[in-house]
Amino acid sequence: MLGSLVLVFALAQAPGANDAKLTGVWSVVMTTPDGQQRETIYEFKAEGAKLTGKIHSGFGAQEIVDGKITGDSFTFATMMRMMDQERRMVTEGTIAGEELKLKRVMPAGLGPPPGGPGGPGPGPGPGSMRMPAQMTARKLGPDEARKKLAALAPPPKLPLPELQDLPDNGLAQTPPMGWNSWNKFRAKISDALVREIADAMVSSGMRDAGYLYLNIDDGWQGTRDAQGNLRANERFPDMKALSDYVHSKGLKLGIYSSPGPKTCAQYEGSYGHEEQDARTFADWGVDYLKYDWCSARMIYSTAEEQRAAYQKMAVAIQKAGRPIVYALCQYGQNGVGEWGPKVSGNLWRTTGDIRDTWASMEQIGFGQDGWAKYAQPGRWNDPDMLEIGNGGMTDFEYRTHMSLWALLASPLLAGNDIRQMSDATKATLLNREVIAVNQDKLGRQARRVLQDGKTEVWARPLAGAAWAVGLFNRGDAPAKVTVKLAAVGAEGKLKVRDLWAHSDQGTAEGELSETVAPHGAILLRLAR
Ligand code: GLA
Repeated sequence: MLGSLVLVFALAQAPGANDAKLTGVWSVVMTTPDGQQRETIYEFKAEGAKLTGKIHSGFGAQEIVDGKITGDSFTFATMMRMMDQERRMVTEGTIAGEELKLKRVMPAGLGPPPGGPGGPGPGPGPGSMRMPAQMTARKLGPDEARKKLAALAPPPKLPLPELQDLPDNGLAQTPPMGWNSWNKFRAKISDALVREIADAMVSSGMRDAGYLYLNIDDGWQGTRDAQGNLRANERFPDMKALSDYVHSKGLKLGIYSSPGPKTCAQYEGSYGHEEQDARTFADWGVDYLKYDWCSARMIYSTAEEQRAAYQKMAVAIQKAGRPIVYALCQYGQNGVGEWGPKVSGNLWRTTGDIRDTWASMEQIGFGQDGWAKYAQPGRWNDPDMLEIGNGGMTDFEYRTHMSLWALLASPLLAGNDIRQMSDATKATLLNREVIAVNQDKLGRQARRVLQDGKTEVWARPLAGAAWAVGLFNRGDAPAKVTVKLAAVGAEGKLKVRDLWAHSDQGTAEGELSETVAPHGAILLRLAR
């Protein structure tokens, strides 16, 4: 019955009835949460039931695959490269008079599209810009279409420097600590917000606990002036004055850019302006640069090119003559642990973007074992910024987050609203005994020393014949965790201190055994 209805419906449609309507160049304008307009161009060719074409954005062009037209409805997919994975994004559309209604759908099991409804996905890329579920497309006339397509075409590839081994810049002898705007505020940031956060860093005790870098992430950039100098947007009227303010509070200022023409939220990147931008940042008094791959992927393709692009900015920073911590953000691709130090990198991301969920934090945090060998003073693996205090996990889970990041010698970049922290958030971020593990001057990143079902033990040696040991329970019921001290690399009779309970727990010899709550962590310091 249903089958024959579908047949009748299909026969009623003349084949290719919508060819002329659909074929052409369409514009979709989206407004980002901070009020910026971003345009994507859809180039469609309809032939009967078949839809082909391309989608053009600030991230280059993507080919449409599996495009099908049924009456006034159509569907197609695009393949999107996210980190080292190809992801299939499906779009459904309908012809609605002169317009098209478009809707992103995700294949079962994949979760929301990056940046789509429900929050940003594992990023990076255009995903950093939350895409609405429903979009309306308007057809462009031939002249307008030509102009817009030309504007979105990737710029020509500029020559890159020959690879060399750059000297260590001597910075970040312990993992950088501070705050970053992205996790909580996305691109909704301003001079006023940064000043308020600076004040709160002092009044909350964050600064005195060691959180020194106040890092402005994506969303500060405006346009370039006639000489090509990058200016901040209207929300940041005077970067030098802001930097002076931040410095007057005993804090340091961080900023964000990309080796590509556009950043992940499609603001202006440093492509072709590396030296000029490094000089600008130095003039403003910037102390930290996060350099995010983003649209550079539409220009460069090989691992060597990626390294050379990071080297180019490193040399530009060196020339600018100001000590600037250099944070590489290319999501752990291309063996960056090996070459990050050779481009004077002080830290490099090892993953895609963290989200404020147990699943995301757990996957990232417990997935870092293979990176441990690259960590040492001045060179840190970066499993992304903290979500502590952002509300998506329990206070208990945030403690596990902090315990892991401390053991992993990860940068501790708070990502919450420092102006309004609960007591539990403060107790987690400001636990000085846990911070001391993170900042230990040996700079050794913890390894997983035991995995048994849902329980894990991670340990790292600390300066002065001491060890930090984390007992974790990833499961949903309390679990007993027992680990031999020999597995930790410790021996003899050792004093045990519980760093969350702030209490001495007597001594241990031979093994440690504790019951750990679901999603919980016990963090111990062992010493002679
Ligand atoms: C990428 C990065 C994030 C953040 C955003 C900003 O997704 O991985 O940490 O900087 O870009 O657009």
